[in-house]
Amino acid sequence: MKIVAMGRALPQYVLDNQELSGMVETNDEWITTRTGICQRHIAKGETVVALASQAARQALAQSGVPLESIGVVIVCTFTPDTATPSMACMVQKELGLPQTVLAFDLNAACSGFVYGLAVAEALMDRQGCHALVIGGELLSRLVDYTDRSTCILFGDGAGAAVVSPAGSRTVTDFGADGNAELLSGGGYNINGGREPLRMNGREVFRFAVSTVPGSIRRVVEQAGCTLEEVDHFVLHQANHRITEGVARHLGVNLDRFYENIVHTGNTSAASIPLALWEMQEKDLLHPGDRLVLAGFGGGLTWGAMLLNW
Ligand code: ACO
Repeated sequence: MKIVAMGRALPQYVLDNQELSGMVETNDEWITTRTGICQRHIAKGETVVALASQAARQALAQSGVPLESIGVVIVCTFTPDTATPSMACMVQKELGLPQTVLAFDLNAACSGFVYGLAVAEALMDRQGCHALVIGGELLSRLVDYTDRSTCILFGDGAGAAVVSPAGSRTVTDFGADGNAELLSGGGYNINGGREPLRMNGREVFRFAVSTVPGSIRRVVEQAGCTLEEVDHFVLHQANHRITEGVARHLGVNLDRFYENIVHTGNTSAASIPLALWEMQEKDLLHPGDRLVLAGFGGGLTWGAMLLNW
C-alpha cells in the first residue's frame, strides 16, 4: 500500500491559550509546559463533512488519481455530524465519487486513521481500486468548555490520504481494551443531551506511554528492521509530553518524531493525517522513506503501522 497524496482542512477560527485563559482558570505557561499546545482551530459553522470533503478534494487533485478509480471511502471519526447518513456517504456525494464506492465511517477514536489505513489496504486487495482515507473531527462538539483539564487539549480539523494498492505491504499491530473510566463521551444522557468528553488525564498518559512503545517495537521487529532504520515516527498528537515519553522509552531521539500539536492541539483521528500533510508540504517525505505511524486513545484503542512512503 502506498499513500499517494495528502490533503487537509482546518476551521478558520483559532482559539489560543490567551483566550482560553479568559474562559477557564488556566494560563499559557501551564498549558504549554504540560501539553506543548499554544493554539487549536475550532469550527464556527464548519462541519465534519465540509472539512473532510475539502481535505479529500485537495488530496485527490494532488494525486492525479481519477475519481472513477476510488473504490473505498473511509471517514475515521467519533464526532460525526450525523450517525446516518455516514460522513463517508456524504463525502461520496460532495465529491461526485462513483456510486459503486464502498463508503463507511470508522470509530476507533484517536487510533482511527491507522485502523482506517489497515482496513483500506485489505479492501483495496479485494476491490482492485484506490481508497480515500480521511480523519475528520469536531472535538469542540464534545468538549465541556468549563472543564479546564480537557478543554485546553482538543481542536477540530480533517486530513485526507489518497491510497494506492501499489507498493509493499504494511506491517501492523493493533489492540483494544474496553474501558469507559479513562476516556468517554458522546453518548446520550437521560434527558437526551450529549455526554461531554470526560478523561482521567493521568491514567490516559500512563496508558499511552506504557502501550505505544511496545506496539512500535513489534511492527519494527516484524518488518525485520531496527528503530534506527525508521526515518520518521508520526504519533497521534495527544500531548507533547506523551511523545517525549514514548521517544524516551524507545531510546530514539525526539527529533525523529514529527510534531505539530503546538498549533493544532489534539484533533483525534485527524491528527496523524494533518501531520503527514505538513511533512509533505515541508518536503520531509521522500520515496522509500520508512514511516511508523502510531495512534492511541479512546476505546481504549491503539495501533501502529510501518509503511514505506
Ligand atoms: N490549568 C491550570 N491548572 C490545571 C489545569 C489547567 N488547564 N488542568 C488541571 N490543572 C490543575 C489540577 O487541578 C491540579 O491541581 P491540584 O494539584 O491543585 O489538584 C494540577 O493542575 C495537576 O493536575 P493533573 O491532572 O494531575 O495534571 P497533569 O500534570 O496530569 O496534566 C494533562 C494534565 C495535561 C491532561 C495530562 O494528564 C495529560 O496530558 N494526560 C494525557 C491526556 C491526553 O493526552 N489525552 C488525549 C489522549 S486520548 C485522545 O486523544 C482522545
